[in-house]
Amino acid sequence: MSEAFDTGRGSEPFDTVDVIRTKRDGGTLDDAQIDWVIDAYTRGAVADEQMSALAMAILLRGMSGAEIARWTAAMIASGETLDLSSVTRPTTDKHSTGGVGDKITLPLAPLVAACGAAVPQLSGRGLGHTGGTLDKLESIPGWRAQLSNDEFLRQLGSVGAVVCAAGDGLAPADRKLYALRDVTGTVEAIPLIASSIMSKKIAEGSSALVLDVKVGTGAFMKSVDDARELARTMVALGTEHGTHTVALLTDMSTPLGLTAGNALEVRESLEVLAGGGPSDVVTLTLALAREMLAGAGLVDVDPADALRDGRAMDVWRAMITAQGGDPSAALPVARETHTVPAPTSGTVARLDALAVGVAAWRLGAGRARKEDAVSAGAGVVLHAKPGDTVQAGQPLLELHADDAGRFDRALDALHGAYDIGTVYEPSPLILDRIA
Ligand code: URA
Repeated sequence: MSEAFDTGRGSEPFDTVDVIRTKRDGGTLDDAQIDWVIDAYTRGAVADEQMSALAMAILLRGMSGAEIARWTAAMIASGETLDLSSVTRPTTDKHSTGGVGDKITLPLAPLVAACGAAVPQLSGRGLGHTGGTLDKLESIPGWRAQLSNDEFLRQLGSVGAVVCAAGDGLAPADRKLYALRDVTGTVEAIPLIASSIMSKKIAEGSSALVLDVKVGTGAFMKSVDDARELARTMVALGTEHGTHTVALLTDMSTPLGLTAGNALEVRESLEVLAGGGPSDVVTLTLALAREMLAGAGLVDVDPADALRDGRAMDVWRAMITAQGGDPSAALPVARETHTVPAPTSGTVARLDALAVGVAAWRLGAGRARKEDAVSAGAGVVLHAKPGDTVQAGQPLLELHADDAGRFDRALDALHGAYDIGTVYEPSPLILDRIA
């Protein structure tokens, strides 16, 4: 090539700007362009500002099903894929798109293992108003999130359930791209969310996967239509890769259960494992367990029995102990509490999930930056949920924090977050099923 026509791309087969322009102008990226751009970004040959521009073009222009499938495959190929072939039980996993008070993994993983499947759950820490499963489990004294591949496989074989941190080797392209999307306003693109979640889940190697796609104020997806599109996209990706994939669309307009915050949610999960707990948490745990078990080919077992007879609790204790935790140790409690009373008598008509999530975060339960520490005891306890009747002055919410100075900003977040009146319109917890 003569100097006059040198695009400056050196030995790279494509010019990044051409790839960006193609998507910016509403065109379709071909397989070779997608494979290259993901690989080149992972090794640093495509700059962050270029990938930001491409992510924004994808957010604005969308992607075809074929583009999303190739993008996902390229992200999987950017790292290692776990080999679970040594695990003798059928493997089945669950992923939630994230919500407020979503502690379902905690009772669900041991419950499904107690019913005969193996549950390999690679989880993350929370960012922003939605909590992270690892943060919750780390409130148990001694429990550690980091396992080697050998430890992971050994525990999966012996206990049947592992919840631990995903290693750096899994879909490294997504790790880099997700951090970039977080600071460039490009998280909300359905093709990018679907490929991000599914690249990690497929690389994890489980045979079956159940997706809990949250809808409502406390979720990424605010409308049922968007959630349905995300669910369909992810189910198609899983199916193409040979993973038996089903999605449930579930309500996230109000928090799940009666707690939002790390140790508070562990305590509530223990109630579920002991056969009690709030009815919405129990209902969703059992619905997801049935889907996970069906995906694993275990259709003749009723997970409700394993909650009732203590088998799920036994697996929980084994799972926590195997990762250094003491399942009998007292959980951390915040130093300060502040009660919010019901301003009037009536029926709770609305209690907003996002506001409760932001309040819990401001109380110290969540982090603003990846490197921030979280407070194990901080969070919000709900004394009433939509549909409950309250008397004026009776406790409605209870705020927990290590530092009383955090209460004012949490109360700001809760301003206008609830309605108490005479009319309550119940909405279903499970809104749809996509297979
Ligand atoms: N969770 C992910 O892992 N990726 C996204 O893009 C959004 C939520």
